[in-house]
Amino acid sequence: MPTVTVPLPHPYDVEIERGGLARAGALVARYARANSPVVLISSPRIRRHWGAAAEQSLRGAGLHVLALELRDGERHKTLAGAAALAEAMAAEGADRDSVVVALGGGVVGDVAGFVAASFMRGVGVVQIPTTLVAMIDSAIGGKTGVNLRAGKNLFGAFHQPRAVLADPEVLRTLPQREYRSGLAEALKYGVIADRELFEFLAGCAGELRRRETAPLERLIAACVRIKAEVVAEDERERDRRRILNFGHTLGHALERAGNYRRYLHGEAVAWGMIAATRLAAGLGRLEAAEAARLEAAVLALTAPLPTIEEDPRAILAHVARDKKTRGGVPHFVLPRAIGVVEIVAGVPEAAVAAALEATIALSRAA
Ligand SMILES: NC(=O)c1ccc[n+]([C@@H]2O[C@H](COP(=O)([O-])OP(=O)(O)OC[C@H]3O[C@@H](n4cnc5c(N)ncnc54)[C@H](O)[C@@H]3O)[C@@H](O)[C@H]2O)c1
Ligand SMILES: [Zn+2]
Repeated sequence: MPTVTVPLPHPYDVEIERGGLARAGALVARYARANSPVVLISSPRIRRHWGAAAEQSLRGAGLHVLALELRDGERHKTLAGAAALAEAMAAEGADRDSVVVALGGGVVGDVAGFVAASFMRGVGVVQIPTTLVAMIDSAIGGKTGVNLRAGKNLFGAFHQPRAVLADPEVLRTLPQREYRSGLAEALKYGVIADRELFEFLAGCAGELRRRETAPLERLIAACVRIKAEVVAEDERERDRRRILNFGHTLGHALERAGNYRRYLHGEAVAWGMIAATRLAAGLGRLEAAEAARLEAAVLALTAPLPTIEEDPRAILAHVARDKKTRGGVPHFVLPRAIGVVEIVAGVPEAAVAAALEATIALSRAA
């Protein structure tokens, strides 16, 4: 069972263990006080699949469990959703020694983490991610929060978990589109930091799409290691952590252009990685052969992806808006080779438009 330590000033462990959910109680008990309820936050769908196992384990460890739900879906990642959870915690006797256990994907993890950051000025949280995205990305690093009408993730706090427990077994019930979205994020790690990981993912695409246990566990451990390293170097996302945004500038713009309904996040990131790859190649920063391999790997892991139907001008307008909110400094994370990326400022708009057009053409040809 691999354990990865996130080496921050208050280090914590990410435990990757098949069947580990059964040990949730023993793990959480390390951080809980006998008389303070443990607050298990999930969603109806997640609870239906995995709630009983989690609750049984927590109760088996002698913990007093308060089980709460956030409704499923990104649109419930709101202040109102967080407030309802906090109100229920207060009403049901949670206190400053309570520990929040987030059992779910990124939505549950972000909201539950935010509630933990704020409830009585902060209580501990243990993340038990149930999606591939959450296991390799959102559960690690302490970014928590909710969406505002003005945009995603605009209201939140940094609040590192006490521990993270990733049980690949729970991915069995994840819908295939959600799972493939996670594979896109996994490939991102290979491209930004680890050529060997990239080769492994590209070479095992079929096995991974079938969720074969051994390669899946290897994938999770490798990605968690990279996320942990990047976070430790740059907890507050000032610099190095920005490389995690590879594929995300155009990906976010695409998500917005699709009103957050047409694409899952990872699907938009898959197209965004292809667009960034084309952009890098177009600017002469990446060899054509590398670009072709990168693109083929994205598609091998994530296809079929939704066709890009939106008007490129609308997508580019969202890119421009994104720049504005970042102080007007346009930047793209571009591969120089597989495993090495650079943050590049001052990319000509025409080059971005051309890369996007090529990506759209590819999506329509598929
Ligand atoms: N905090 C961070 O650093 C960070 C990083 C990446 C993404 N995020 C956030 O994460 C969110 C996306 O997370 P996500 O991709 O995990 O999506 P999600 O949390 O919306 O989950 C996707 C769907 O799968 C269901 N589900 C979850 N686990 C399941 C399981 N084991 N079996 C069956 N169904 C299951 C959920 O109910 C939901 O309907 C976004 O809000 C994004 O902003 C945060
Ligand atoms: Zn992402």
